[in-house]
Amino acid sequence: MPYVVTDGCIKCKYTDCVEVCPVDCFYEGENMLVIHPDECIDCGVCEPECPAEAILPDTDGKAESWLEMNREYSTQWPNITRKKDAPADADSFKGMDGKYEKFFSPKPGTGG
Ligand code: SF4
Ligand code: F3S
Repeated sequence: MPYVVTDGCIKCKYTDCVEVCPVDCFYEGENMLVIHPDECIDCGVCEPECPAEAILPDTDGKAESWLEMNREYSTQWPNITRKKDAPADADSFKGMDGKYEKFFSPKPGTGG
């Protein structure tokens, strides 16, 4: 039962989540993070840290459809273990619907 990052992260990317993960299993895309499902130990500590409420256990109905993209991109994007500044306009994208269709980027982030 890994945790997964959902579309709520897109263009918010607050990165509070990476600071608390004991196994450093977050990976950074251009405008969102994902969790490597085989590395996540299901501790759950990242879930309440996300200001955008973008992290859910994969047993949650809203998370199920994001599991495979977390798996796919966690093998392509660089690892991120340290918090970095969120985009300046992050708050204006918090809670917005349809962000995947509008804004998802398959490009990698810079990691760190
Ligand atoms: Fe890391 Fe725990 Fe979150 Fe999994 S549930 S990503 S191990 S903090
Ligand atoms: Fe994204 Fe939330 Fe982490 S917005 S970067 S999942 S703190």
